[in-house]
Order: sequence, then structure tokens, then C-alpha cells
Amino acid sequence: MKQLHEKISSEGRVLSEEVLKVDSFLNHQIDPKLMQAIGEEFSRRFKNDGITKILTIESSGIAPSVMAGLIMGVPVVFARKRASLTLTEGLISAEVKSFTKQTVNTISVSGDYVTADDRLLIIDDFLANGQAAIGLLDIAEQAGASVAGVGIVIEKGFQQGGRFLRDQGVRVESLAIIDSLEDGKAVFREEAETR
Ligand code: G4P
Repeated sequence: MKQLHEKISSEGRVLSEEVLKVDSFLNHQIDPKLMQAIGEEFSRRFKNDGITKILTIESSGIAPSVMAGLIMGVPVVFARKRASLTLTEGLISAEVKSFTKQTVNTISVSGDYVTADDRLLIIDDFLANGQAAIGLLDIAEQAGASVAGVGIVIEKGFQQGGRFLRDQGVRVESLAIIDSLEDGKAVFREEAETR
């Protein structure tokens, strides 16, 4: 997605050969126009898949998901990483390991909002090792919901998540795939660029 590639190139900061900082438009400050374009692109790619709901994870998955949900006309459910005062009954939970932070989080959604009647589009901001997506797929499976695919804003193609999910037969649509972060610059995979 050209607009996203340009934004990453102009505003992304390469912190190391593995980490890209995109706090100015995705992870802290949010660019609503770009999020709208991202929502339109997810909508275009999944418009024929009978999506009934978008499933994401707090916090940075919420903005692109809400835009996609608005355009597709479906609700958005976000998995919580922390216990909630009001969300205590009928929870569906999964464990998510973070390689970057070396922690394990339990993520949860209410069984009221993800059910066997749903056909889900799972959306997240980054795909690195794939643990968040695997946790969300686990929740979908426990709910008996079907999953049309996983939509990712930025996939780090040099980490294993994308390959792992695709090898499992999961449809993964990434709007930008970064093949390397060498020499302080993001190098994009061509096939994603042409979309
Ligand atoms: P995984 O889910 O693909 O396995 O990712 P991993 O454990 O490696 O990463 C954990 C957190 O770090 C996730 O966000 C993920 O989106 C984010 N992350 C991974 N690589 C990068 C990167 O290169 N740049 C940025 N900006 N983030 C990265 P999180 O902790 O759940 O954060 P948030 O959603 O609350 O913002």
C-alpha cells in the first residue's frame, strides 16, 4: 500500500535491525486519514468474505480495526490484556507470549461478542513472531467462530510469524511487508508494494 510505505519511509525510525518505531502515526499518535485509507484497503481485500465482525487486540490494533469496521459495516471486538472490572463472566481466554518483552499475557474476550455465528477478520498493527495473531485465532476457535483471514498493517517479513501462519493455511494480508531494517532503512517486499 503505497501511502503506508511512504509514511513508514518518511516518519518511521529504525531503532535496530529488528525494531521499527512508528509512534507518530500508529503506536502512539494516530493519523486518522491514514487509518481511514488502511480501513478501506482491508475492506477491499476482504469484501467478498462474508465478514460479520473484526477481532483485534488492545491497544494499537484498535484504530485500524475501527476504520475497517466502519467501512465494512461490522462491529469491532478487542481482546483485553488486563482484567476488567465489568468483564468477568463468560470469558474466552488465550495466552500470548511476547518475545520482545519476555512476558506472557492472558488475553480475553467476552463470549457474548464472539460466537459460533461469526466469520471473523482478525486485524493487528504489527506481525512479528505471530503470537498475538495465534492467541486471537485460539480465541476464535474456542468460540466456534470461523476466520476469513488476518489483516496486518506492518509485517516484519524477517521474523517468523507470517510464514508460520501461512504454513498453517491462514490467509494473511499485510499492507506493508518489511524484509529488512538494515542501514537504518526499511526495505519493502515488492508484492505488497504493488497493491
Ligand atoms: P508478536 O505478537 O508478533 O509475536 O510480536 P512480539 O511478541 O514480538 O511483539 C510484542 C509487541 O511489540 C506487540 O505490541 C507488537 O505489535 C510490538 N512490536 C513487535 N515488533 C515491533 C516493531 O518493530 N515496532 C513496533 N512499533 N512494535 C513492534 P504490544 O506490546 O501488544 O503493543 P500495543 O499493541 O499495546 O501498542
